[in-house]
Amino acid sequence: MIRRLNVGLVGSGFIGRSHAFAWRMAPVVFGLPVTPVLHTLADVDGPTAQKAAAALGFARATGDWRRLVDDPEIDVVDVTTPNVLHKPMALAAIAAGKPVYCEKPLAPNAAEAREMAEAAEAAGVQTFVGFNYLRNPMVELAAEIVRGGEIGEVWSFRGIHAEDYMSDPEAAWTWRLDPSGGAGAVADLGSHIVSLARHVVGPIEEVAADLDTVVPTRPVAPGSAERRPVEVDDQARALVRFASGAKGTIEASWVATGRKMHLAFEVYGSKGSVLLDMERMNELGLYLRQDARGRDGYRRVLASPAHKDYAPFCPAPGHQLGFNDVKTIEVKEVVTALLDGRRYAPDFREAYEIQRVVDAILLSGRERRWVRVGEVG
Ligand SMILES: NC(=O)c1ccc[n+]([C@@H]2O[C@H](COP(=O)([O-])OP(=O)(O)OC[C@H]3O[C@@H](n4cnc5c(N)ncnc54)[C@H](O)[C@@H]3O)[C@@H](O)[C@H]2O)c1
Repeated sequence: MIRRLNVGLVGSGFIGRSHAFAWRMAPVVFGLPVTPVLHTLADVDGPTAQKAAAALGFARATGDWRRLVDDPEIDVVDVTTPNVLHKPMALAAIAAGKPVYCEKPLAPNAAEAREMAEAAEAAGVQTFVGFNYLRNPMVELAAEIVRGGEIGEVWSFRGIHAEDYMSDPEAAWTWRLDPSGGAGAVADLGSHIVSLARHVVGPIEEVAADLDTVVPTRPVAPGSAERRPVEVDDQARALVRFASGAKGTIEASWVATGRKMHLAFEVYGSKGSVLLDMERMNELGLYLRQDARGRDGYRRVLASPAHKDYAPFCPAPGHQLGFNDVKTIEVKEVVTALLDGRRYAPDFREAYEIQRVVDAILLSGRERRWVRVGEVG
């Protein structure tokens, strides 16, 4: 029986640090049957990798991610780099026969995501994608309520992911604005709400979208007077039709001034509805139609040990989990799926399906027409 799982982490930025936290905490919180070992950290160059490895507790560091992938001691390759690098890194790991845990969105476009899914399937390699909000216990509860028919037939889904980190026109160019790199608000944020829509309501078949870029140029670097045109979307709105017959809307914006983490959805059915907003990620609004005698209304359900994966963090209800806790739940699920040899959801195949919806929204915006998701990727 394997007792140690040697982790190779590529990237140590925003989400790389969250992965390092989660790899450390998952065995502490969940008592995993295997101990993840922070074996090697790879980053853009040697000094960056060494500094990050020391800070995050990795035993080794390298400025060449290929050395990490090829190291026979590495059991799982964890990719947390900019989107455009996911494919070469994942394909190399797959070629080495190693499971890959990769951040979202999986690739710059659906065609490349499909290539990655097919490569993993052909090699029989397990894959895992970091759509961490799916692991929030309140999302699991919403999915259970909706899929279990508690709110009746689903008629409508209203989803949005709005933040404001690009609201300032002086916010400089980053890889998130690279038009060839799977960038823009729909790919960066919209992919999260699409993952939730598919998880809770099911496949999306058709979209009609309107996208725009509201900040036309940005400084090439922080504080620079030189500016570069922005070629990706800042905000998008899409009408969506689900395979089930339900209809809805999906919005994404990184210029939603004032919003910090408004990843939210509302599902309306024939008997009730559920509401969830990650800015208050420990609560769910639940309405189940009752006799209306002036006491009709939404229940505020607080996360508690009654909900999946909450109790190992805290035995008391309402004490609140956070972003890194949800990543910790994701790592626990990755490790258990890995040990059981079972398919994880979302894997590369599901991330490809998510990416097809993202691409369909982009195509619909460009061509100003309804687009069937089956047309892309
Ligand atoms: N799941 C989530 O909630 C979530 C949140 C943020 C970001 N992300 C995703 O995570 C990925 C990274 O985003 P981020 O915000 O952490 O970016 P970031 O820019 O903060 O970090 C990227 C890291 O990759 C490293 N890197 C760049 N080129 C490299 C190379 N050639 N070799 C090795 N390392 C290299 C950088 O030095 C840095 O450490 C993206 O795909 C993004 O969409 C997911």
